[in-house]
Amino acid sequence: MDLEANPDQADFRAASRICSVGVSKILQIGARAAAMKREGLPVIVLGAGEPDFDTPDNVKEAAKAAIDHGATKYTALDGTAELKRAVAEKFRRENGVDYAPDEITVSAGAKQVLFNAFMASLDPGDEVIIPTPYWTSYSDIVEICGGVPVLIPCDAQAGLRLGAEQLEKAITPKTRWVLLNSPSNPSGAAYAEADYRPLLDVLLRHPSVWLMVDDMYEHIVYDGFRFVTPVAIEPRLKSRTLTINGVSKAYAMTGWRIGYAGGPKALIKAMAVIQSQSTSCPCSVSQAAAVEALTGPQEFLVARQDSFRRRRDLVVSGLNAIDGIDCRTPEGAFYTFASCGGLIGRTTPSGKRIESDSDFTDYLLETVHVAVVPGSAFGLSPYFRISYATSAAELEEALTRISSACDRLV
Ligand SMILES: Cc1ncc(COP(=O)(O)O)c(C=O)c1O
Repeated sequence: MDLEANPDQADFRAASRICSVGVSKILQIGARAAAMKREGLPVIVLGAGEPDFDTPDNVKEAAKAAIDHGATKYTALDGTAELKRAVAEKFRRENGVDYAPDEITVSAGAKQVLFNAFMASLDPGDEVIIPTPYWTSYSDIVEICGGVPVLIPCDAQAGLRLGAEQLEKAITPKTRWVLLNSPSNPSGAAYAEADYRPLLDVLLRHPSVWLMVDDMYEHIVYDGFRFVTPVAIEPRLKSRTLTINGVSKAYAMTGWRIGYAGGPKALIKAMAVIQSQSTSCPCSVSQAAAVEALTGPQEFLVARQDSFRRRRDLVVSGLNAIDGIDCRTPEGAFYTFASCGGLIGRTTPSGKRIESDSDFTDYLLETVHVAVVPGSAFGLSPYFRISYATSAAELEEALTRISSACDRLV
């Protein structure tokens, strides 16, 4: 390009490390839905990855007090001493796992924890095993950090959970990490102790493979499901496991950007090196708020869980009443991941054949103005994800519209 002729038009050349990472389908759908809303169309968006509750008042008050008391400066690199103590106490109280302060890191969200961990540990070509469907950021972060995501499709018959044989087969000399997420975004599937045990046995036989677990939705589980984190089941894996969690989902604090993890000292130290050259430290005020979230009253979590469970039941039964859709009942999180396999091959009133889950979700958005995310965005088709973190009235309206759209397919 002739820069003298076009001084405002210089070509931008993106670094090769982000070339394979596109704008996520979720963001694309969100942008399209927002544009349709601006045009005045009555769009219902069931894509949000955040609770519709507000941050608890005691947490907000703690943040205001922190500002008033001068907690407005840089903090210790990977978390204040108070927050590390609160995190250590949380791990002890809720998970039965002991982490010392130098085995704990705090970052700007669990996403930054994941980023720091992969950035600090992956060399080019190192493999990370990710059961599929998976939260899209996992594979993107691995790729940005030079790693190779190894995506293993999970079987609907196995409740969309990874099996021990699948894990054993996927491990190669290049495997660095296995990344497990329970309850899962996008499927809501969760691993009970009995589901984890065979996987942990496989890992015991492969001492060079490390385990990363994302427990972000720990507090959103239903029907008496007993949440357990792998290190509590198998302490022999503690020296090579990173246990990730955060306040975003349980405490409705997505915007505060606080996530944390417990893990072996050497890894935590390496992650701090990455953090020191990116964000320096997590937000001081948010850390004070997170201390209150973790140490303050916890009773409201049960009421919120109950509210999510009622909405889960509404969506699961509404979807299963539609011919061509099959929805398993998720154990946790606030998503359903339903199969639309029975609709593939049908034709829309305008004569278009539904060939894939994204054809189906496009059809829903275009004709009945309901925005949901196709399974292909999470690596498994033909499915679609609904986030039910919205009002029951809106969910009922969305289900009525989806049902009528499906009725019109022939
Ligand atoms: C499974 C999972 N892990 C981690 C995160 C990131 O959470 P945070 O807000 O702490 O970065 C999300 C957010 O959607 C998620 O779904």
